[in-house]
Amino acid sequence: MIRKIITLGNETLRKVSNPIKKFDLRLWLLLRDMAETMYDANGVGLAAPQVGILRRVVVIDVGEGIIELVNPEIIATEGEQAGPEGCLSVPGRQGYVRRPNKVTVRAFDRKGKPFEITGEGLLARAFCHEIDHLDGRVYVDVMDHEIFQDEEE
Ligand code: NI
Repeated sequence: MIRKIITLGNETLRKVSNPIKKFDLRLWLLLRDMAETMYDANGVGLAAPQVGILRRVVVIDVGEGIIELVNPEIIATEGEQAGPEGCLSVPGRQGYVRRPNKVTVRAFDRKGKPFEITGEGLLARAFCHEIDHLDGRVYVDVMDHEIFQDEEE
């Protein structure tokens, strides 16, 4: 089921999400809906609070298949990248954001099994961006500046 993506100005985006404690059907349905919603919107990532659910759940697909993160935590970062970033909750806008270039995340899979995953470039950026959502942070809070259409050419 495709869920409605809430946008900047909605208070829910500013709240801290709660950890998942039960790795049950309810979680799997949420993960399924989040993936459907992300692909429908042509996004590369989606966090549960963006569909109004204050739980620490993220889906990401930067073109290498779906990554599901439950209760994710960034445990290591390396280097820096700077570039444009957008968000499905901030439609039509982009900002210039600095992020680490390499990020390692510890999370749980949908069955409650812990794992670690390391990403570079866009994937590292997506890890930071989506995990920020779980703490009520949106990229506009951490961007250097807005990118306007005429700057892109
Ligand atoms: Ni976002």
